[in-house]
Amino acid sequence: MGRRKIEIGLAGLGNVGMGVYANVLKNSELLSRRANAHLNIRKIAVRDLKKARDHEPPIPSDRFTNRWEDLIEDDEVDVIVELIGGIDQAKELVISALRKKKVVVTGNKALLAEHGQEIFSLAKEMEVPVYFEAAVAGGIPIIKAVQESLVGNAIQMISGIINGTCNYILTRMREEGLSYQDALQEAQVLGYAEADPTLDVNGWDAGHKAVLLGSLASGRWVPADQIHVEGIENIRLGDIQFVETMGYTVKLLGIIRCTENEPLEVRVQPCLVSKQHLLASVNGVYNAVMVEGDLVGETLFYGSGAGQNPTSSSVIADIVDAAVGLQHDEKRGYVPSNELAAVKPIEATLSQYYLRLHVENRPGVLAQIAQIMGGHDIGITSVHQPESMAAMADLVLTLDRAPYGSVKQAIAQIQGLSCTSEDTTLLRVESFEDPA
Ligand SMILES: NC(=O)c1ccc[n+]([C@@H]2O[C@H](COP(=O)([O-])OP(=O)(O)OC[C@H]3O[C@@H](n4cnc5c(N)ncnc54)[C@H](OP(=O)(O)O)[C@@H]3O)[C@@H](O)[C@H]2O)c1
Repeated sequence: MGRRKIEIGLAGLGNVGMGVYANVLKNSELLSRRANAHLNIRKIAVRDLKKARDHEPPIPSDRFTNRWEDLIEDDEVDVIVELIGGIDQAKELVISALRKKKVVVTGNKALLAEHGQEIFSLAKEMEVPVYFEAAVAGGIPIIKAVQESLVGNAIQMISGIINGTCNYILTRMREEGLSYQDALQEAQVLGYAEADPTLDVNGWDAGHKAVLLGSLASGRWVPADQIHVEGIENIRLGDIQFVETMGYTVKLLGIIRCTENEPLEVRVQPCLVSKQHLLASVNGVYNAVMVEGDLVGETLFYGSGAGQNPTSSSVIADIVDAAVGLQHDEKRGYVPSNELAAVKPIEATLSQYYLRLHVENRPGVLAQIAQIMGGHDIGITSVHQPESMAAMADLVLTLDRAPYGSVKQAIAQIQGLSCTSEDTTLLRVESFEDPA
C-alpha cells in the first residue's frame, strides 16, 4: 500500500510555527518513513499577510490565509496545529477544529490550563485526540512521559524548573551579582525574555504548566484559580547571595505533590534548593522536571524548555503521533477524567523555611521573635546575623517544618513589633520529600 498524505493546517507562523514549517521540510524523508505518510503543510494562517517570512525556498503565497477558519473549512485538512498563542481566538479555533473532527496539536499552555477540561471533554465526545507535548517545557518530552511511559505509576511528586526566563535571571544574579532589573534586561536583549515578560516573571507561565502536570499526575483537572503562584520579581540579590553561604541556591520551582487521601498540592514559588540536589545544577535557560512514581522511583528530564527548534521537536512528534493515529484509528496518551481535582490551600502546605528579617540591632530582639514563633508552634533551626554595626540589621532564621499559613501569621505579628521593619523575605526550603 502506498504512503498516505496527511494534510496539515498550520495556524501561526511565529517563533514556533516557523520552526515547525522549516523542520517538517528539513526532516521530511525520515518523517514520512516514521509516520508511514507524507506530512504536507497545506495551509498556513497568520495575522498579517504582508509580513516578510524568512524561509528558503520562499513559502508559496497561495498557502497563506489571514482567516484561520479557512484551515477548518478545508475538508482535506486532517490535523490542525494551533500555534497562535493567546486564549480567546485559540480556544475558538481548537473548539471549531474538534467539532469538524480534525485532530488538534497545540503548544498553548495558557489555553489548556484555563479551558483544558472543556476542550478534552469535547475531544472525547467527538472521538478526536488533542496532543500538547510542546505546552510544558518546550523540547523536553515530559507530557508523553507522564501520559504514556509512566502511566502505570501512582505519581507521588513532580517538581521542576519549568520557566527558562526565570532560571536565566536567577542564574545571572547568583553567578554575576547582577540586580534583578539588569538580569531581566540582559535576558530580553538575548531574546530569552519577551518584550513584556510579565507572565514569566510573575510565575504564571510556570503556573499554567504546573496546572497541566498536576492534572496529568492526579488524573483530574486542576482549577487554575486555586493554585498558589509567586514569581521572582521581589527576589533580592542579597538573599540569593546569602543562601549560597548556607549551601543553597534559589530556584523558581513548580511543585505538584500527590498524597493519598489528601487534596493535591500544586504551587509555583521561589525555593531554596540544596546545592547537592540535581536541580541546583540546572542553570541558564535550561529546564528540568523530576517525576517520582511509586513503581519507577525518581526520574529526571532535562533540556531546552523553549526556543524554535526544541519546541518544534515536540510539535512535530505530536504531528507524527497524529499521522500514525489517523492511519490506525487510535489515540495515544491518557487524559485526565472530566472531574476537578481538590487542591490543598497553600496555608496548609508544609515545608521548612528561610526567613530574613530587618530588625533593630540590639539585645532582646531575637527573644521577642522566638517567642512569637513558639506561640505558633514553629521551631527555629538556625539563626544567622551577618556582622553589622548599623542600627538596623538583617537577621536570618531557618524554620522547622510548619504550615505556610502559621508562618505567614507569625511574620505578620513580628512585623507589628516596634523593633522590626516590613523588609522581609520568606522562601521555602524544598526538601523534595513528603513533609507529612
Ligand atoms: N516560543 C517558545 O519557545 C514556546 C515554547 C513552548 C510553547 N510555546 C507556545 O507556542 C505558541 C506560539 O508561540 P510563539 O512564540 O511561536 O508565538 P509568536 O511568535 O507570537 O507567533 C504567533 C503567530 O500566530 C499568528 N497569529 C496570532 N494571532 C492570530 C490569529 N488570530 N489568526 C491567525 N494567526 C494568528 C501570528 O501571525 P503574524 O506572524 O502575522 O503576526 C504569528 O505568526 C504559544 O501558545 C506559546 O505559549 C512557545
